[in-house]
Amino acid sequence: MKILGISGSTRKDEQSGTLTLVRTVLEATGCEYELVSLRGKTIGGCVACLGCVKTNVCVLDDDLKPLREKIDAADAYVIGAPNFYTGLNGVTHAFLERWYQFRHRTGNALWGKLAVAVGVGGGAGRPPADEIEKFMLYSFVETVAKVSGQGAASCFTCGYGETCQVGVPVMLFGEGVKITEDLVPGVTKQPNVLKAAREAGKELGARLREGHDRAEVTRRMQQIMMRMFKESS
Ligand SMILES: Cc1cc2nc3c(=O)[nH]c(=O)nc-3n(C[C@H](O)[C@H](O)[C@H](O)COP(=O)(O)O)c2cc1C
Repeated sequence: MKILGISGSTRKDEQSGTLTLVRTVLEATGCEYELVSLRGKTIGGCVACLGCVKTNVCVLDDDLKPLREKIDAADAYVIGAPNFYTGLNGVTHAFLERWYQFRHRTGNALWGKLAVAVGVGGGAGRPPADEIEKFMLYSFVETVAKVSGQGAASCFTCGYGETCQVGVPVMLFGEGVKITEDLVPGVTKQPNVLKAAREAGKELGARLREGHDRAEVTRRMQQIMMRMFKESS
């Protein structure tokens, strides 16, 4: 059983709440895993060229190319992203758009697999986790759990955080704020978030070990998808 972990944060490893939470989930699964960070990778969005229609292989030549085989081979995914403007950051959105290559003709390579979605925001982590779940649904992948936490907005370390009128420290704590280590949010300071990440990992590991029925998961995801289509049309 192999799980592919993806951290969509572009910040340094030690700064990233997303990377920390994705790793926490993966470790708790008890399964073999590989963790890939999208930091420093050049991945463009789908350009709708339809070059993948006949083969289910994207023809664009960038850093997504070597990841295709990993996505295909994994039994499950733990995917995390930072909140940018109440949604996914750009590289994670581009990464997930490119899963379009699996969605043609009899392309059922991902159907019925399982996932955990992780989101981290300076304020709210839930929006990117919700978006990841939506992307998974399009591939008929079931999101068994979502985990979200508060990371450290860059405003805490940019050098102007105490006076910046549009920065998070002044917005959260008001004029005259003094930035101390205690004040800087971080997922490792939120025991409930770490607990949720470990529980999500355990659940994913258990579902994989019990040998979930991929055909049954696919049917359920297809039904949810159809309902979603009807409600939004
Ligand atoms: C361009 C940009 C937009 C952002 N927009 C939001 C936002 O709308 N809501 C929010 O809660 N945090 C927002 N943030 C803060 C990040 O989500 C936060 O720093 C998070 O910790 C990043 O994840 P990471 O720690 O894994 O890098 C934004 C950050 C950047 C750079």
